[in-house]
Amino acid sequence: MTFDTSLSFAQSLDQQDPLQVFQEEFLFPEHQGEKAIYFCGNSLGLQAKGVKAAVDQVLKEWEDQGVESWFKGARPWLKVHERMQAPLAEVVGAMPEEVIVMNTLTVNIHLLLGSFYRPTPNRFKVLMEAGAFPSDQYAVAAQVSKLGFDPQEAIIEVHPREGEELLHTEDIIAAIHEAGDSLALVMLGGINYYTGQFYDLAAITAASHSIGAYAGFDLAHAAGNVPLSLHDWGVDFAVWCSYKYLNGGPGGPSGVFLHNRHGDDPDFPRLAGWWGYQESGRFLMRKEFVPSKGAAGLQISTPQMLAFAPHWVSLEVWQRAGVQRIFEKGRSLTAYLEFLLQQLNARGAALHIITPAEPAARGSQLSIYFERDGKALFDYITENGVICDWREDNLSLSGGGVIRVAPVPLYNTYQEVYRFIDLIRQYLQIENFS
Ligand SMILES: Cc1ncc(COP(=O)(O)O)c(C=O)c1O
Repeated sequence: MTFDTSLSFAQSLDQQDPLQVFQEEFLFPEHQGEKAIYFCGNSLGLQAKGVKAAVDQVLKEWEDQGVESWFKGARPWLKVHERMQAPLAEVVGAMPEEVIVMNTLTVNIHLLLGSFYRPTPNRFKVLMEAGAFPSDQYAVAAQVSKLGFDPQEAIIEVHPREGEELLHTEDIIAAIHEAGDSLALVMLGGINYYTGQFYDLAAITAASHSIGAYAGFDLAHAAGNVPLSLHDWGVDFAVWCSYKYLNGGPGGPSGVFLHNRHGDDPDFPRLAGWWGYQESGRFLMRKEFVPSKGAAGLQISTPQMLAFAPHWVSLEVWQRAGVQRIFEKGRSLTAYLEFLLQQLNARGAALHIITPAEPAARGSQLSIYFERDGKALFDYITENGVICDWREDNLSLSGGGVIRVAPVPLYNTYQEVYRFIDLIRQYLQIENFS
């Protein structure tokens, strides 16, 4: 698509946008009495208007029926996972029984590592991206140490090439082959939280399997942000949180993908709890654990009904909006943001976008890198009603950092992108576009 720099062009894009109506379904923070420009869906997605009613409904069921709510009513709580499996499977490209909502993200990282990291004296290494989200780093190091290995030796970090910020797929794959049969597991963030780079999960999974390692991904920044085909790519497991692109609410529940070849295997080493027991026999309280089929067998505890409600409301909005339409608009909105940033650069700004330029290698987020002084620009746009975020440079610790901007397709508009760019233009004292 070709873009231009006029405000009327942004207005016409919004008019033609079939998802425009969905903005009305979300609640926006305000800035000086006006709706703020919210570009932080990569951190905490907005609240769908239907959430209050859904939470109230759970409270009412609890009030009216008490414990019987697990089995009674139009939607017995016992079946809450089924309500979410099919819509979520569509979002991440899985079979419904391959996904489950449970616990929170870092807890699930530990649980899935517990199942998949089964080192032997020869095969004990874990390959990660350098600069992975801290939870991934801490959890992998903790699991490796717990099983008696030295994280320094057992964890292989793939770094960007000298002077670069992004990873080359071929470097990741070369590192996998180099580790060969010493490698037990590849565990990457699907989209790196800092750079916004979306890795080639299909190629990385294939390379991992070719040398006998498992491939698992932390998809906190990918689920609901980019099209995924977890089943077809043969990924072993993935985990994500619901509170970013899936609007599941602060600290909301996590999603898990477990490929059917593991989920259908009764001997797969699940860290069992009673809620993973086959539903028909769960309340018989038998001694031997009989897992539910699929990812449902990973469940450990009673689902947190009040915390799940915002997530199923959001998934219902996703279903009405159409998953593919959301991803298509996401690409277009970010391409438009990139185009306008480049126009600023053509007029003398020196904004360095570190997120890949190829649409297939990124999602909604663009990370604009500043060696210094970026925080002052960030503060200016914040004071003027844009909510995005600032992250310190965690690799070089040079005092630099990035402004992460994520216009998301469900509730952001082209005109908001335009206004955001106009603020940067003013700050940098660049002449008006038109
Ligand atoms: C990539 C990634 N992994 C893990 C986490 C931690 O999630 P939680 O605090 O829900 O466990 C986050 C939080 O933002 C994240 O972005």
